[in-house]
Amino acid sequence: MSRRVRVPDLRLKKQAGEKIAMLTAYDATMARLFDRAGIDVILVGDSLASVILGQPHTLTVTLDAMMHHTSAVARGTEHALVVTDMPFLTYQVSVEEAVRNAGRLLQSGASAVKLEGGRPVLDAVRRLVDVGIPVMGHLGLQPQSVHQLGGYAKRGSEPREAAVLVDDAVALEQAGAFAIVLEAIPAELANTVTKRVGVPTIGIGSGADCDGQVLVSYDMLGLYDGQVPSFVKQYADLAKTVTTAVRAYADDVRSGAYPPTRTTVSITED
Ligand code: KIV
Repeated sequence: MSRRVRVPDLRLKKQAGEKIAMLTAYDATMARLFDRAGIDVILVGDSLASVILGQPHTLTVTLDAMMHHTSAVARGTEHALVVTDMPFLTYQVSVEEAVRNAGRLLQSGASAVKLEGGRPVLDAVRRLVDVGIPVMGHLGLQPQSVHQLGGYAKRGSEPREAAVLVDDAVALEQAGAFAIVLEAIPAELANTVTKRVGVPTIGIGSGADCDGQVLVSYDMLGLYDGQVPSFVKQYADLAKTVTTAVRAYADDVRSGAYPPTRTTVSITED
């Protein structure tokens, strides 16, 4: 496989018209599989809270948890760029805290961090970039603001909100962000943002015109049995595969079919 994807490669891909494939992962085994399959960017998303930890939203995930899973993903990855979400309250309180916390994620194995928001987080983005920590922005639906937004509905349909979002994207690029996730916004708005900024846009539920796409891996693999957004294409039904295999194993154990006597180690007569 070719060399590891680096931060500047993503802008080159945009310039060359090459789409960027990004997927979330939370452990070394899955990261290794995604890496071998040629994924460009692996995101250790704070969606970890719901798909791995069984939490109702992302607000409770801690920096320690993100560091723990980042180091696992980094160990399983040889090719993809590893980006980790900064969890809620690790970058909003002060720029100093943002730098310290982002630095710990890089020490855990991430090559870049992602944080949610536009103008309110620009000071943090500038400082992180100044000290050598690459930042991916995240606009549109921002799950860490679920209480403020009142849910997970699409964003940016109102002209005023759409205009603010375009300005935020431009401001994030000027602050030094190397890419911007656009979550759950109208395809036309994602198209406008993608044309306005030189850095790649990575869409999730925001149409086909973004420079790349990201999905929560547990959603597209059919592993997560909670509510999955309607834009998700399910590429596998792993929940069914796993349940069928585990049921067969349990049946075999209970019936005595597993383990077969010929595979057990027996004491020789000697
Ligand atoms: O946490 C996450 O998985 C994300 C993606 C949905 C973009 O932020």
